[in-house]
Amino acid sequence: MGESETGTQAARPVLRVLGGEALSPPPAWMMRQAGRYLPEYRELRAKAGSFLDLCYTPDFATEVTLQPIRRFGFEAAILFSDILVVPHALGQEVRFVEGEGPRLDALADRAAFAGLREAGDPRIMAHLAPVFETVSRLRAALPRETTLLGFCGAPWTVASYMIGGRGTPDLAPARDLAGRDPALLAALIDRLVAVSTDYLVRQFEAGADAVQIFESHGGTLPAVPAGEAGDALARWSLEPIARIVSGVRARVPGARIIVFPRGTGLDGHARALAETGADAVGVDWEVDLAALRGRLPGRAVTQGNLHPQTLIAGGAALDAAVDAILAATAGLPHIFNLGHGITPETPIPHVERMLARLRG
Ligand code: CP3
Repeated sequence: MGESETGTQAARPVLRVLGGEALSPPPAWMMRQAGRYLPEYRELRAKAGSFLDLCYTPDFATEVTLQPIRRFGFEAAILFSDILVVPHALGQEVRFVEGEGPRLDALADRAAFAGLREAGDPRIMAHLAPVFETVSRLRAALPRETTLLGFCGAPWTVASYMIGGRGTPDLAPARDLAGRDPALLAALIDRLVAVSTDYLVRQFEAGADAVQIFESHGGTLPAVPAGEAGDALARWSLEPIARIVSGVRARVPGARIIVFPRGTGLDGHARALAETGADAVGVDWEVDLAALRGRLPGRAVTQGNLHPQTLIAGGAALDAAVDAILAATAGLPHIFNLGHGITPETPIPHVERMLARLRG
């Protein structure tokens, strides 16, 4: 990395906070910030064909990623893609059914697992090449001060979709597999660790400044058998994520990584930061941010955690919730965000009000 590039990166507020600096006001972005609440997204979405076509067409994916940056000036842009492009690249059938969400051909047994591509099969990264092309176009197109975030799903969350074939509320299929054939689940998780590591390294090489690992289904883990390990959160979530973090850093020294352990509670969030080696923890809306900060060292980096419903409500309740997040993180390294993705019914003026309150 040349000296001038180091200087440019040092000017990016989100990267500064990920390095442990406290900024006031904190920099902000929103999970799912490119999405259906924006008319310009819906317009482009209608032109693109399927949702996956949108993800795999760099012209479209680049444009959609930039839309919320132009409109709101967020301090970070998140690559427009989906966590399920990884199972797709492994050779699993993936489709998005309008109004219903993702559908995969459920992976039920060893025969189905044997049909997946091996980690290191060149077809996997070849399949994902359009994503890397989007990342490099984005880095060239974004304002210098805007941090570009790549991402992947955590192995447990991705595996749960691969096994269940869809988002299942209690993840019964994945839980059953953990009890019935834990060695098979472990093999699937290992495959996802290897491929996700390659995937994130390639995103960094294409120009991502930092990445987020989404453990969106972490909250289901207490009900999942952990076998002799006894601790399901460690075995199926935190240890695999820790292997990705150290594997990425071995190839991209100093890589900045955020982990989002949604639904794991106060304890799960504190453990995610301590046990994965990530630089920052994304905090969901169920966790009391002040209580979490009280348990973390002062230099720990947090991100979050406005309730998406509060953003829909707007008004004085929204102002108070923004103020509470600022109070809980005053003088501490924090990145302002929602506690989960923004939903399609959110009024745009409420996003503007949130940012005005935040930026004073
Ligand atoms: O945050 C961003 O703006 C970046 C893009 C992004 C998407 N999905 C776009 C998307 C990211 C980071 C994701 C991650 C993702 N995908 C997660 C983890 C984060 C989370 O929300 O918990 C998960 C679990 C998925 C799987 C997924 N993709 C589901 C369950 C759905 C259907 C739900 C829905 O909102 O429709 C998707 C589809 C999806 N991914 C959409 C977007 C904008 C909506 C598709 C559309 O436009 O029709």
